[in-house]
This record gives sequence, structure tokens and C-alpha cells, in this order.
Amino acid sequence: MSNFSPDMGELQGVTLLQGICDIWDTIYNFQARDGDIVVASYPKSGTTWMQEILDLIVLDGDVERSLRAPCFIKVPFLEMGHTSLEVADSMPSPRILKTHLPVQLVPPSFWEKDVKVVYVARNPKDCMVSYYYFHKMDQTMADPGNWEDFFSNFMSGKVTWGDWFDHVIGWWKAKDHHKILYIFYEDMIEDPRREILKVMKFLGKDFPEDVVQKILQHTSFKSMKNNPVVNFSCLPESVFDQSVTSFMRKGTVGDWKNHFLDSQNLIFDEEYKKKMAGSGLDFRTEL
Ligand code: PPS
Repeated sequence: MSNFSPDMGELQGVTLLQGICDIWDTIYNFQARDGDIVVASYPKSGTTWMQEILDLIVLDGDVERSLRAPCFIKVPFLEMGHTSLEVADSMPSPRILKTHLPVQLVPPSFWEKDVKVVYVARNPKDCMVSYYYFHKMDQTMADPGNWEDFFSNFMSGKVTWGDWFDHVIGWWKAKDHHKILYIFYEDMIEDPRREILKVMKFLGKDFPEDVVQKILQHTSFKSMKNNPVVNFSCLPESVFDQSVTSFMRKGTVGDWKNHFLDSQNLIFDEEYKKKMAGSGLDFRTEL
């Protein structure tokens, strides 16, 4: 993965790891290619799940080939350092790339080339809980402090990759101008087959039902939790300490109810109403 330290930096008002700010010119000048497929998301929104779905769609459902390398090699993480960018440069097309960047910071070459983006968004309350545990587990991220600290930082947008509200709204607006398919994690949980068909259509693919079923089965939470290609078990504890919590932690909707205090829920709902007003987005935050 990266050699980054947990130090935080800021770029155009967005909180990012200092390591990303340090190599910003290289990231911003990344050269996309026609036919690239990008999975974009705010962290902990179902990115890895979508990566695996996209990989299998590109491979026409060939599960054997999907096991060829860990997900972070198959799908280079744009802002995760020089190694990741070198892997991307040396890959044959069609490439699948991952980014957590807010839309205003993505390399302009994305839009100059014929790139397709699948953006995955998740109920912010569950996203926040998942991100909290991820900070504890990923040794390259800053210590999140206790739950109350993390809640405050998330609400003020002072977490890595910035403000959740700006992120989801920015990408939502961008879909009116670019080839962006906007997918919700909760919809994927509700009916994964329906959402996989949407992604297939977006990529111009049509498979017989047995191939769709293979993709469905291989990307279920249970399969992915046990699949070393996607569960990050290949990373040492010094990077991902999965004795703290697994990367494939729960994979459910509504875990926030086990963490949010009533007072936090009130604060959140109030902020949500204000910040999302008029955006046209509805995250079913009560789920
Ligand atoms: S990252 O590190 O930002 O790329 O993380 P990301 O992959 O976006 O999100 C991780 C959360 O997604 C859950 N997950 C899944 N849920 C359901 N089905 C499948 N197949 C699946 N794969 C990953 C994962 O468990 C994390 O959520 P939490 O709530 O922490 O369990």
C-alpha cells in the first residue's frame, strides 16, 4: 500500500493525508486513457465491493482470473503514491482505477478522455461508523480518538478526504455533465442483482443469467470476507491491524444505531437537513 504517515495536510480546503499533498502535481497530472473505468467514492462507502464487481464484469465473469492479484494491484488507488501510479501506467486497457477524491480535485484528464465513473455513496451514519473503525485498524491513518472526537471531526469535515456532504453533492452534480453512474450502497444491499445489472448496462455489457449469478455469488459479503484478494489479509499488521477489526467488518445497513447517541443523532439529522437541502439526494438516513 502506501508509505504514508498519518500526518494530515490540506488542499483547496480539503483535508487529505500530507503524503497526498506532497505528490499532488503527479496525481493531478495523471493521464487517463479512453476506456478507463473509475470507481469513485467517499471512504467506506462500498468501494472494494464495487471494484470487485467491475473487475468481474470486465472479465466477463471469469472468477479464476479475478483471483490474479490483490484488489489494490488490480485496481490502482490513484492518490496512494508513486507505486500505485506506476502500476496504473503499466496496465493494459481497459483499466479500473480507484479514487476517493472529491470531484473538484480529480485529474482533468478524466474528463478529456472517455472515462466512465461509477460513484458509490453510502448512508453517512454507517459510513462514519465504518470510517471510525477503519482509522483504528489502518496504521497509516491518524488516531481517531474516541467516538465523540471522531463524530465531531467527521461533522466538521476535518477527516481525510474531507467533508462527506461536499463529496456526495459534488459528484451528484457532476453526473449531469460526465459519464457517471451514481450507485447507493443500501440499494446494493437491498438488491445486488439489480445494481449489478445497472453497472453492466453502463459498461455496455450483457451476460446470460448464469454469469450474473457467478458475479453475485463471488461478490457477496461472505465470499469477499473469505477471499484473500479483497479482504486485505495479505497486508502486514503494521499496515492493516485486522486484530482490531477486519476490513470486511459487518457489511450491513444500520450499524450506526449501535454507536450514535440520541444527542448525536439529533445533531446529525439537523446538519443533514441543512446541508442536503435542495441537493436532490436522499440517503434514507433513518435506515
Ligand atoms: S475503503 O477502505 O474506503 O476503500 O473501504 P470501502 O471498500 O469503501 O468500504 C468498506 C465497507 O464496505 C463493506 N463491504 C461490503 N458490504 C457488503 N457486501 C460486500 N460484498 C462488501 N464488501 C465490503 C465493508 O464491510 C465495510 O463496511 P463496514 O460497515 O465497516 O462493514
